Order: sequence, then C-alpha cells, then structure tokens
Amino acid sequence: MRVLFVSAEVTPFARTGGLGDVVGVLPPVLAAAGHDVRVVMPLYQSIRRSDFGLTAVVERLPVPLAFGERTAQVWQGTLPGGTPETAVPTYFIEQDEYFARPGLYGDESGEYADNGLRFLFFCRAVLALAERLGWFPEVIHCHDWHAGFIPAYLRFLPGLNDQLARAASVFTIHNLAFQGVFPGTVFAATGLPAQLFQPVGVEFYGAVNFMKAGLYYADVLSTVSPTYAQEICSPESGWGLDGVLRDRRDALVGILNGIDDAAWNPRTDPTLIAGYDADNLGGKAACRTTLLRAFGLLEDSERLVCGMVTRLTDQKGADLVAEAIERAETRNVHFVILGSGERGYEARFSALARRYPHRVGVRLGFNDALSHQIQAGSDCLLVPSRFEPCGLTQMYAMRYGTLPIVRATGGLRDTVVSHDTADGSGTGFVFSQATTEALVATIREAATVFADEPQWRQLQRNAMTRDFSWGQSAAQYVELYKQAIAAKLR
Ligand code: ADP
Ligand code: GLC
Repeated sequence: MRVLFVSAEVTPFARTGGLGDVVGVLPPVLAAAGHDVRVVMPLYQSIRRSDFGLTAVVERLPVPLAFGERTAQVWQGTLPGGTPETAVPTYFIEQDEYFARPGLYGDESGEYADNGLRFLFFCRAVLALAERLGWFPEVIHCHDWHAGFIPAYLRFLPGLNDQLARAASVFTIHNLAFQGVFPGTVFAATGLPAQLFQPVGVEFYGAVNFMKAGLYYADVLSTVSPTYAQEICSPESGWGLDGVLRDRRDALVGILNGIDDAAWNPRTDPTLIAGYDADNLGGKAACRTTLLRAFGLLEDSERLVCGMVTRLTDQKGADLVAEAIERAETRNVHFVILGSGERGYEARFSALARRYPHRVGVRLGFNDALSHQIQAGSDCLLVPSRFEPCGLTQMYAMRYGTLPIVRATGGLRDTVVSHDTADGSGTGFVFSQATTEALVATIREAATVFADEPQWRQLQRNAMTRDFSWGQSAAQYVELYKQAIAAKLR
C-alpha cells in the first residue's frame, strides 16, 4: 500500500513531544511489512540539511494559495534506523517566509501569529508535491491539526488532480487540546468553497478550526489510545469538538502508540554509564548514582527517586508535582525534573531546586540524552496528567525498570497496571483524582513498596518485560487504511 504520512514533527528531525516520536517510528515499521511509505514535514530552521544528508528533489514547487502563489523547494532524506528495505523517504518543504524561524510553532514571545497560514501552506504544498512527484498515495495519513486541511482539500479543492483526489484520508488526533483555531479571515486563503465555512464544516464559533476540518472530512479517524477515544466523545474531554466526534463515532478508533525499541533499550543505550536489562539490574544502580551526583543530590539508596520528563503545562499536572514537593510527607523523596514549557512553571521549579538543593534537581530545556539518563536513574517516573491521549514517557520508564506513578486517564490507564501487593502483579502506581493529596499518597505508597526489595524487583521485572513495540498497533493501522480506502469508495 502507498501511504503518505503528513506531520509537523518527525523524530529525529524536529520534535517538541510525542507526535514526532510516533511519526518517526511507525513508518519504518510499516515499510518493513512491505508498504511503500513516505513522510513529509516542513523544513524548519533547526533542521540542518548536512546533518541528515538531505538532497534537493524539487527545486521550484509552485504552491497556489487563494491570495497568490508561493514557491517551495523540496528536500529529501531518509528516516534513520532501518535497513535498505525499510528506508522511508522523507520530504522537507522549504519556504523561508513560513519556516525559517527559530521555533516550530513560536518563540519566547508566544505562538507565531501566522501559524494558520504557515500550516495551510504546508497542507497545500504536500498535495502539490505528490502531484509533482507523480507518486499518488492510496492513503494520506494526517497527524494533528497542522495537517487538518488535507482531508478537506482531497474532497473539495477545485481543480485537484484526479489521481490525487482518489487518495483516502486518515486523520489521527494526538492531542485534542491543540486544534489550530485562527480568525475566520484565514478561511479565504484556503481556496475552498464558501459552504465549508459553517458549523457542520470548518467553522468554530466564527473562527477557522483546522482540527475540525480533519475530523469532518477524513475518511476515518483515530486517536492514540482506546480510553482517549472514548473520553473525547464526552463534553468534559471534548474541548468543544465532542459533538463532531460523536457524529463520527463510527469512524473513530483508538490505537495505542508503541515505542521505539531500539532507541529506548537500557541494555544498549549509549547515553548511559552502564547498560542493564530485566535479568541484570546492576547497571541501573550505577545510572542512579550518576544521576544523583549530576544533580548534586544526596546519595542515598533508600530514598525513592522520582523523575519527571515533560512539557511543563497544566495538562501534565506540573502544579501537582510542584505542590507535592512542598508537602512534609515527601521530605524523604528525591525529585529529578527535566522540563520546558510555561514560564511560570519554569520559575516555580527552579525556585524549588534552590530551596531544596539536596533533594530536588531541576533542569530546564529540551535535552534528549538527559531524558534517557533520568529514565534510567530514577526509581519512579511521575506522570500525573489531567488528560493524556497516550503518553510515551510512562512506557519508556517501564522499559527502563522505572515504575510509573500515573493518573488513570487516557493512554496512561491503558498502559500502566496498578501494583497488587497480594500477588506481586502490576507495573506501576495508578491514582484517580487530579489532586495533590492523591499524588502525595501514591508517592508514599510507592516509597513503602520500594522499601520491600523483592517486591520492587518483581514489579520492575513485570514492567520491563511488557511488550510496548509497534507490531500490533502497526497491524491495526494497516486495517484502518483498508477501511479508509473502502469508505472512500462508498
Ligand atoms: P507529549 O507529546 O504530550 O509531550 P509524550 O509522553 O507522548 O507527551 O511524549 C513526550 C516526548 O517528549 C517523550 O519522548 C519525552 O521523552 C520527550 N520530552 C518531553 N519533554 C522533554 C524534555 N524537556 N527534554 C527531552 N525530552 C523531552
Ligand atoms: C500528544 C499527546 C501524548 C501522545 C503523543 C503521541 O502529544 O499529548 O499523550 O503520546 O501525542 O501520540
């Protein structure tokens, strides 16, 4: 099957979170199963062409927009990590006016004001590229709001190439909280028929909603865990689009993300001082000592070390963690936090590290190597999210014998099994209420189990031997692609 992935983030080229990780790994798995998979993303300033050996593939690609033509240049590279058979061609859309900027979506002063036009251009350029290459996908797999207008274009763009118009579309929601909502005036730039700008269409309270375009017009929809697929159909978790999702419930499935087994393998991880696996955890102790030393924390093998690697936002429960650190009940617990995001949270965590220098370590910024070291060196990983479409860090943690402490929501609920002291089952600690009390109580519970070494080892083994690889989910996507093709023909 010919499948084109369209995403604003693809690891290792550019990412701000899990979206990139998923789009960087699923395509090679599908390619290994014999599919002709290609990927397309913007060429951001941060992507150095020489680092990835990109070559020019289209020198001048005219991209027609309603307000005039823009020209793109297109580069080609390959997603790393595969064999020649699984090599996935990846195209990069270069357009300086829109993408030669320091950030993917914004800078210190906030989101870029023209993100609507930037990603509309991207959607239109993707279609122009497929036509120019003469490579017509059977399925276009669109990820998150940035690609939302592609399903609408495939159905309604006047003058769209016939072969391209035959492509079925799949739209995957990675996070419904980010919808790409822009002033209604942006609609004029789409070049789409005026009747699409209405509530049963892309209009959202007078604005244009990119996510809604994907949700209404894609042939099939998916999101990244079964529980999140249910949650988003309810008003509490639907961010104003639950009605649309209920309308399209029959077309929506939840497919759990997998993880990159090669990049996240504690036995071979090159960022670690010592490797280890489920049968031999010696190396993990060395990683733990190194981590505590790097953050200048008290080296004490009996104190629970809780790591956290995250965007610092309300979604991730950053406030709950900050409050938990200040509670007397956690005074014997160590915290090692790597995060970036909202200014207020960054300042708050830095202040906590200054106030408790021997038990709280904080590093701000995005640091891939350090994220691996925290996963390996911690005893537990905190993921107290208010909502979580899937979440990858809890799966990385389990693979590294680091027991996740999670709130029972979305993909966290689907991937972490709460421990049971009676029979030694479980892979982590799960709580229900998004409150500091519940988080603190669960950290205390984890600390109690941690003191019981044989029991802790058992839970670590349970976690490390769970299968989080992509195999099963990739097969589900192939089924979804077939469904999309069938739906398109109807
Ligand atoms: P989300 O996509 O909502 O941020 P996920 O758990 O799906 O959450 O994915 C987050 C990804 O980003 C993981 O690969 C995680 O390791 C990585 N990550 C998040 N924050 C940082 C950071 N500050 N430094 C390095 N990696 C980070
Ligand atoms: C989003 C979600 C996260 C999910 C990731 C990859 O960023 O917030 O839960 O794991 O996408 O699908």
